Amino acid sequence: MSDKKKILVTGDRPTGNLHLGHYVGTLENRIKLQDSFDCYFLIADLHMLTTHQDRVAHLKDNIIELVVDWMSVGLDPNKSCFYLQSKIPEISELTVLLSMLCSVPRIQRIPTLKEKITSMNLNDNYSLGLLSYPVLMSSDILAFNASVVPVGEDQLSHVELTREIARRFNSTYKNLLVEPDPMISKVSRLVGTDGQGKMSKSLNNSIYLSDPEKVVKKKVMKMFTDPNRTSADIPGKVEGNPLFIYHDIFNSNLAELEEFKDRYKRGKIGDVEVKDSLVRNINNFLDPIRQKRSEILRNKSEILDIIIEGSKRAREATRKNLELIKEAMSLNFK
Ligand code: TRP
Repeated sequence: MSDKKKILVTGDRPTGNLHLGHYVGTLENRIKLQDSFDCYFLIADLHMLTTHQDRVAHLKDNIIELVVDWMSVGLDPNKSCFYLQSKIPEISELTVLLSMLCSVPRIQRIPTLKEKITSMNLNDNYSLGLLSYPVLMSSDILAFNASVVPVGEDQLSHVELTREIARRFNSTYKNLLVEPDPMISKVSRLVGTDGQGKMSKSLNNSIYLSDPEKVVKKKVMKMFTDPNRTSADIPGKVEGNPLFIYHDIFNSNLAELEEFKDRYKRGKIGDVEVKDSLVRNINNFLDPIRQKRSEILRNKSEILDIIIEGSKRAREATRKNLELIKEAMSLNFK
């Protein structure tokens, strides 16, 4: 890996399988950027604890499964560094240091944090760890001095906080930290199969990268479409219709798609025909991913080594940066 390449950091929580929303939201970008950036892909186990502190029984399996998902879509541990957050104590140390530069109300205003607190019914009873997780994420990024952070739209406010913390550090101590740029993909928020705003494991509206053909078929056949269209001869709405949002992404036969849209708008096609085609297209898209997955699973024992080796390399990178950061803060007492 060349020293001249810019650094990219991004990652996922090990909370279960990745789905199509992850693919279009961030994985696709990562695959493209692997050759041009020095990439660090983070398995955010500490982030997982901020909301699921008691759900640790399957943590190891989930970590391995996340890496299998990554590799199945073409993230390559020979090109990029895969590492486990909890194996890099420097990230936690940096979180403590950076938390001095951040006011509590500033963090409390972060929309994703508010959403989490509401969706988990936590009221005022959330943990200090959850409150500070945006600072932890800033440390994930600043510990590597990353220039680019590919994320879904919902994570933008965290990258903004990271930029603010970097600026504050630089003006308070020394001009050391890079202000990272977020990178948002074409489809930064994929609608769920139920028509809800976002595909999400907790909403049970996801098509997973690891779903077998039959499961994809079942999920697509049950998909939410235009609710006003109770029979095939009623003109339907294409815009905002999840069925067509997915077609726009996964159907590369533009002529067929135009024809579907035209007939749908005129009430000349049944949902089933449009859904059948979508099933075929999603399965065509997933087929090579499934194949790769089964190859990877044949050598599953190697995944542990990939994570351990990657974490060592990541730790080395953060150790050097942290030394400079502490020196700038006069924390180099000798
Ligand atoms: N918070 C992100 C999520 O919930 C995951 C994440 C943790 C991350 N640290 C990161 C993403 C650093 C980008 C950079 O999806």
